[in-house]
Amino acid sequence: MTVTAGPAPLVIASNRGPVELCVDEAGRVVANRGGGGLIGVLGPALASRNGTWIASALTEEDRRAARQRETGAVVELPEGSVRLRLLDLDRQDYDGYYRDISNGLLWFLHHHMLDPTREPAIDAGVRESWRAYRRINARFASACARELALSGQALLQDYHLSLAPRQLRALRPDAGIAHFTMIPWADPANLRALPADLATELLDGMLGADLLGFLVPRWANAFVETCAVAGYPVDRGRGTVIDRDGRRVKIRCFPVGVDPDRLRHVAAGAAAEAYRRELRRLVGDRRLVVRVDRMEPSKNLLRGLDGFAELIAREPARRERVVHYVLAYSSRQDVPAYQAYDREVRRRVDLINERFGTPTWQPVVLETRNDFARGLAALTLADVLVVNAMRDGMNLVAKEGPVVSRRDLALVLSTEVGAADELADAAIMVHPFDVTALADGIAAGLDMPRAERAERLARLRKAAGAMPPRQWLDQAVHESADRRTG
Ligand code: G6P
Repeated sequence: MTVTAGPAPLVIASNRGPVELCVDEAGRVVANRGGGGLIGVLGPALASRNGTWIASALTEEDRRAARQRETGAVVELPEGSVRLRLLDLDRQDYDGYYRDISNGLLWFLHHHMLDPTREPAIDAGVRESWRAYRRINARFASACARELALSGQALLQDYHLSLAPRQLRALRPDAGIAHFTMIPWADPANLRALPADLATELLDGMLGADLLGFLVPRWANAFVETCAVAGYPVDRGRGTVIDRDGRRVKIRCFPVGVDPDRLRHVAAGAAAEAYRRELRRLVGDRRLVVRVDRMEPSKNLLRGLDGFAELIAREPARRERVVHYVLAYSSRQDVPAYQAYDREVRRRVDLINERFGTPTWQPVVLETRNDFARGLAALTLADVLVVNAMRDGMNLVAKEGPVVSRRDLALVLSTEVGAADELADAAIMVHPFDVTALADGIAAGLDMPRAERAERLARLRKAAGAMPPRQWLDQAVHESADRRTG
């Protein structure tokens, strides 16, 4: 009798799961795709694999499901099924962990967005939130420990779970533990914004893993350098850091791409078609400059709007002939800095429209409703796509746009996003703080000859589809299963 060993059971843990459970108008429980970044993409990649996804219960329905089925439930996605185990977490602890530390502190730290005249201010409240962050990480670690089979591997995701690798190692020293950071990592000078005890705990937490994955070499190198400055022995050639217990921790890069077939399928669907009709009515035969982002300070929406305004201010011939469609869907509205940013973006849009608009032309159209199909529909019709984030782990919109484009879009891309490593050759590159360069870049994109647009687009597409999420996950699992180092 032959026994074929299946892939080792996989446990993925992230704050947000691949779906959120909600009740629809007919009272049925439905699973909606989780919003933002990579999480909603990794869900389909995990579907039908032998694995479990552990995530926070975020909606009322999630919490009900978590209480009813502590062992988790199987959720059907179009790509297959995922076993989802939701954690019903203490609400107050969750706020400290998610709002104050993950997004109020670590997000700003790793994106180099702290304003040192005011932030961070590590007072008693922040310290209490840090303890909550530690407790929630511990909940994830113990859930992983329970789920892991003997030969299992745990893949922990992102800055929400920086302490969990060490906590899991304490519970399950036998397990393979990998942690993947989907955002940038702070340079050593920026990490010094944290008091030494917090910085030490953060690095120590991460180094509990066997493998630390980043999206591009810039962020992996920054991590290695922060370890070196903290006194850990590092081997830059082999990409390893020696932990305090003598283990060699592997630091690796896994640049993720998009799945062209899946995106084109959604972009051709009925929902996207309806949005396309709506947008065509709005824009008419004008040229279209598009951006699709979360309403998020790191996405640099204000300078993006200023760049567009500078262009139509200095080149009146473009007025009435181009529309900037800004799809910026609300995000993290419980973080005060996000509320303020949201208000400022709306004000800036109004100012531009008041200054330049005419009875027949609204220069900027702001849309804040979150809908994946709407974003893809806008990308299909874009003549120019603007991605000017201040700093971004990868930025998948820069890859989605070229893949679904039906108008041979030109990509204006920030030098500071991970995707720049693969797309710089074929994009129009701009520094995110250079507003005039952005105006120039949009103009260059609008004026680019057809043959050049098509030629650049072909190269963008090739790079964008090079490592679709399913393959990315396979590669990451393979590398983390390999316990040899160096
Ligand atoms: C972005 C980042 C991801 C991160 C996510 C969290 O999408 O690219 O790396 O996990 O934000 O967003 P959330 O909506 O859960 O706060």
